Amino acid sequence: MASAAPSNILMLGGTRFIGQYLARQLVEEGHQVTLLTRGKAPIAARIPDDTDESHAAYSDAVQHIAADRKDADAVKNALKGREFNVVYDINGREAEEADLILEALPSLEQYIYCSSAGLYKASHELPHFETDAGDPKSRHKGKLNTEELLEKRGVNWTSIRPVYIYGPLNYNPVEEWFFHRIAAGRPILVPGKGNQVTQLGHVKDLATAFRKVLGNPKAARQAYNISGERFVTFDGLVRLCAEAAGAPEPELVHFDPKAHDLGKAKAFPLRDQHFFTSIAKAQADLDWTPEFDLAAGLRDSYEKDFSKTGGRKKADFSVDDLVLKGAGKQAVPA
Ligand SMILES: NC(=O)c1ccc[n+]([C@@H]2O[C@H](COP(=O)([O-])OP(=O)(O)OC[C@H]3O[C@@H](n4cnc5c(N)ncnc54)[C@H](OP(=O)(O)O)[C@@H]3O)[C@@H](O)[C@H]2O)c1
Repeated sequence: MASAAPSNILMLGGTRFIGQYLARQLVEEGHQVTLLTRGKAPIAARIPDDTDESHAAYSDAVQHIAADRKDADAVKNALKGREFNVVYDINGREAEEADLILEALPSLEQYIYCSSAGLYKASHELPHFETDAGDPKSRHKGKLNTEELLEKRGVNWTSIRPVYIYGPLNYNPVEEWFFHRIAAGRPILVPGKGNQVTQLGHVKDLATAFRKVLGNPKAARQAYNISGERFVTFDGLVRLCAEAAGAPEPELVHFDPKAHDLGKAKAFPLRDQHFFTSIAKAQADLDWTPEFDLAAGLRDSYEKDFSKTGGRKKADFSVDDLVLKGAGKQAVPA
């Protein structure tokens, strides 16, 4: 790994998904890493890529501070007298949360933030570039507000905007949603014609991009889309998931989401629209490009996680059954 000068890093998070991969890379690169979490999740749980040696080395090296980052007094007390030169804010959702950290650590050299491509306003022109407008009404408006706050506070910030993240340990049922249905030999329900184009990025490639912005002058006060290099249709994603699981091609049932009143229940794990970004800016500035194509990345996730755990969430096909019953199995007209 190419090394940035050793930093004393505070990571907000680090114990669920992205942060677990990133913290390991940072420790391996020689940085001092301290995780701030509530301490509900284990601090150095073994992850699929760990060997006995790497896990022991990581467990010995990583430090922990226990606090709820939403509790202003707890954050103030926990960080009193502590010196860090870099913050990786992986789990922040609202600007006030970042503000507390900036107040407590006024002399940071860099604040690296996990934002989301979900902040973009839907647009007729794709892929999304970092210069595209954000949507102040989106569910991710807190990410947008945080980026604005970081700019306003004059801190040297870098924001990473992932699209859909996948890989072993994924807590969101993305690839797992398909793997469950494939394992059960169920038909896969896909909204519309299944030709909606989307984009997924492997968690390890994301962690590498996060690492590569550290101390990088080009990344000063910049946002970067991070995801896979290519885009995929919904139907294509189903087929790649089946390939990853070593299963025959599943039956695809295209349905009209508007024909069903499902309330808040989700009949498909991805937003029903074209949604993808350009990662060209990150490739130009960060000496980074994804190592995983989607087929290899899905295989990695299946082999290291789903095939061993059977999934992080229990399979639930009740919504599929509702749609199948209501829709019959007719395809959406071409
Ligand atoms: N999944 C996607 O497709 C996607 C796409 C775009 C962006 N994102 C962004 O990616 C990030 C996901 O990060 P991750 O979960 O993988 O992060 P992570 O750094 O691996 O870990 C998150 C940890 O944060 C701790 N935490 C939660 N609430 C806390 C609180 N109030 N105070 C202190 N610690 C707290 C939890 O541990 P304790 O319970 O022990 O506190 C949790 O294990 C989010 O910012 C999300 O918006 C995700």
